[in-house]
Amino acid sequence: MSEPSHTLSDSVKQAILAEVPKYPEPRSALLMALHFVQAEIGHVPLAVQREIAALLGLRPIEVREVVTFYPMYHEHPVGKRNIQVCVNIACALAGARKVVRGLEERLGVRVGERTPDGAYSIEEVQCLGSCGTAVCVQVNNEPFIENVRPDRVDDLLRTVG
Ligand code: FES
Repeated sequence: MSEPSHTLSDSVKQAILAEVPKYPEPRSALLMALHFVQAEIGHVPLAVQREIAALLGLRPIEVREVVTFYPMYHEHPVGKRNIQVCVNIACALAGARKVVRGLEERLGVRVGERTPDGAYSIEEVQCLGSCGTAVCVQVNNEPFIENVRPDRVDDLLRTVG
């Protein structure tokens, strides 16, 4: 399925430009710009990253570095319930990969994909900062789901909703 093309809307462009004077330099408005875009279209596609870069006087790779570094930004469309599973060391040792495989089996999609109805997607992310409660999962920007066990993926999905 191909993604529809997106461009920076005039309203978001104006919102970004209104933020720029609040910061010591235009690049500092980047995180806010990405929030505005994601709030409007749900993710930050490459074409829009290039537009943001031009607007803030950055190279496109500088925008992409930020989009791909923070788990709260998405380069591609995600499901309404985007299930992010931490696969960093503490969570990996507690079975994070098995949690991911369990989700893939039950939802019928792989990491980085959405279910056909757009309801769910699965992402592997790096440390969410709750290593003591591994495996740690986050759905959208909601509170963490902690101490997830690989043999309790059905319970996890009930919690995810
Ligand atoms: S390693 Fe998973 S929360 Fe830190």
